[in-house]
Amino acid sequence: MALAGLENNDLKLIIFGGKGGVGKTSCAVAAALALSVNFKTLLISTDPAHSVSDCLERQIGFNVVKVDGNANLSAIEVVADEALSGFINEHQGELKKLLETSTNLDNEDIDEMLTLSIPGIDEVMSFKTIIDFIEEGQYDKYVVDTAPTGHALRLISSPKLLDEWIKVAARMRWKYRYMITSFSGSYQPDAADTFLLSLKKTVKKIESLLKDNHKCEFIPVCIPEAMAIMETNRLLADLCKSEIFSRQIIVNNVMVSDGCDFCKRRKAGQLPYLQKITEIFHDLNIVEVPMFAEEIKGIETLNKLNRFLFVKN
Ligand SMILES: Nc1ncnc2c1ncn2[C@@H]1O[C@H](COP(=O)(O)OP(=O)(O)OP(=O)(O)O)[C@@H](O)[C@H]1O
Ligand SMILES: [Mg+2]
Repeated sequence: MALAGLENNDLKLIIFGGKGGVGKTSCAVAAALALSVNFKTLLISTDPAHSVSDCLERQIGFNVVKVDGNANLSAIEVVADEALSGFINEHQGELKKLLETSTNLDNEDIDEMLTLSIPGIDEVMSFKTIIDFIEEGQYDKYVVDTAPTGHALRLISSPKLLDEWIKVAARMRWKYRYMITSFSGSYQPDAADTFLLSLKKTVKKIESLLKDNHKCEFIPVCIPEAMAIMETNRLLADLCKSEIFSRQIIVNNVMVSDGCDFCKRRKAGQLPYLQKITEIFHDLNIVEVPMFAEEIKGIETLNKLNRFLFVKN
């Protein structure tokens, strides 16, 4: 089987995820390369390990760069810390106002609070960066490579987390508004209110994009091994709970050769797991990719991988 439906015009956001080391980056980069033949594609790495640069053998950084020799393919590394500090710098005024008027913190405390790392905030900002790109609409396809499973799950649950903060901030603001109204009789919404409202709109946008199965698809990558199957199963259950669409799964590193004793034994060892994958994931399109003799690095091997991802064989 080959990957299906990625060329549908409506489909904008394609997220690759799975256990550590199973081939997420290789598959995401290869898919972005294949899609760039017909679509303007932005490859987004949210993995701090910079593996997209290694895989493409080109330096990709915090700014969008065109992948040499391919006018249709651009790439960027969205690093959570950078996304967060960019957001704080951009909205410093509104954030300070929000904290000043909603808490009893003094200026020093507020400055300290803005430098604190709140768990999960960096993923929220990574996703906000992705959404901002999609909103700008310069590309037809946005292909996202994630770090191992936990990170992908944090990334997709980030709108919920942001929504929780907005609720707390809005409650604090409500008290402030009540106080002002009691003293002066009326309340004029200020920059902090506008800011909260715009954050709320961002959450809604992220949620509705993630849940729109025409616009967004999550592709789990797995290998025929016990731990990977278990983790993929959990990942799919979590995706289902979050109403995120998966129609297919890539099974990477499948042994095809029986040339030597080692290959024969590896192949025989994988067989029960491949059967299990067919049973457990029977409602998904299963795309098998063989284990190559060489690592997936550079355009030539990526294209080789694409012959399995995109062409029926
Ligand atoms: N089908 C394959 N045949 C041979 N080597 C492969 C294959 N798929 C991936 N590899 C190699 O396996 C290693 C891990 O692949 P990759 O970086 O794509 O995995 P990953 O899931 O993104 O890892 P991480 O969880 O660390 O981000 C890389 O060296 C890659 O070149
Ligand atoms: Mg990777």
